Amino acid sequence: MLRDFRSYERLELTLEPSLVLVHGPNGAGKTNLLEALHVGTQGFSPRARSDAQMIRFGTRASRVVVGGTNGKTRFRAEVGLAAGEPKRATFNGALLRSAEGLRHELRTLVFTPDRLAVVKGAPATRRAYLDRAVGRFFPARASLPVEYAAAVGQRNAALRRLAAGLSSAEALVPWTEAVATLGEELVRARAESVELLARPFASVTGTLGLAGASVAYDATAPALADFEARLARDVERGLTGIGPHLHDVELRAEDRELRSFASQGEQRVAVLSLVLAEAQALAARTGVTPLVLLDDVLSELDEDRRFALAGVIAGLGQTVITATHASALPVEPAQSLAVSSGTIQRA
Ligand SMILES: Nc1ncnc2c1ncn2[C@@H]1O[C@H](COP(=O)(O)OP(=O)(O)O)[C@@H](O)[C@H]1O
Ligand SMILES: [Mg+2]
Repeated sequence: MLRDFRSYERLELTLEPSLVLVHGPNGAGKTNLLEALHVGTQGFSPRARSDAQMIRFGTRASRVVVGGTNGKTRFRAEVGLAAGEPKRATFNGALLRSAEGLRHELRTLVFTPDRLAVVKGAPATRRAYLDRAVGRFFPARASLPVEYAAAVGQRNAALRRLAAGLSSAEALVPWTEAVATLGEELVRARAESVELLARPFASVTGTLGLAGASVAYDATAPALADFEARLARDVERGLTGIGPHLHDVELRAEDRELRSFASQGEQRVAVLSLVLAEAQALAARTGVTPLVLLDDVLSELDEDRRFALAGVIAGLGQTVITATHASALPVEPAQSLAVSSGTIQRA
């Protein structure tokens, strides 16, 4: 159920627990609807937008309320946005410390065309993606990437103090130890996450017609001796030059690196497969299927792949998929919603 969604005066919507198709012309509001579902379940927009951009133009505040079942447990999440104020979120009536804290309560996976950057973008994009997956697979370790980044920041600051003659090499030691310890934990968490993704990723990419695809994270965390060995260079640059903040996730098809060699269509299949593979892995691990939001994925896939995709989706929990035409989905959805100029109708 969704209320007070910004593009609509007041919208109440009940979505079927399985496959929901949202269709309508360009600019109708389909992505807005998915965005609202993401905001309402994760506390932030999957688009790179500021919170203010999510408030309906000409108004000062918006609210998304989502109720449903997570596994067998009923929940109610509410996210409020007001101009110039921090976001506010409650889960089952309890105020969360931050709206993003909803991520620890509910899992929502999203594919949007700008996610192609996960394949074709810089390593930092893949690291960020993997680190969010770490948080979804292992909630207790969700803060690890942030803690590690903070330790690297502290160590870099200490390196610069050392270079400026403001402190001794001993003062650096605790920061190096923190970076080494947290780095090792982060590498382990990432490797375990990729291990959970690897098999479903190979299977889903195969189903979607990308042969021999694999995801790998072949990394080892540097030991204290490695930091020692390159101390002079680190001091000179004022930067920690080794560690998981520089690692990459390898996405390949046979022996080709998808980042450099995949066509646009293959990149799309790879990113989509990562999302679907994670959904399968999360379901297998936690027994709870995540909410899956697939935006603008059908138009770029040929008939065979659309059919294959429908087959994969059928094995998941609740999926909301958008298309400009209802006919783009080659199977009958549980529910079909027609969107035009910001209004939604059951088709
Ligand atoms: N905060 C907002 N308030 C009102 N309208 C908005 C807001 N943000 C985006 N829009 C409008 O929503 C429309 C795009 O909707 P979108 O969901 O992206 O369409 P599509 O159906 O193509 O996915 C645009 O016309 C845009 O101006
Ligand atoms: Mg759209």
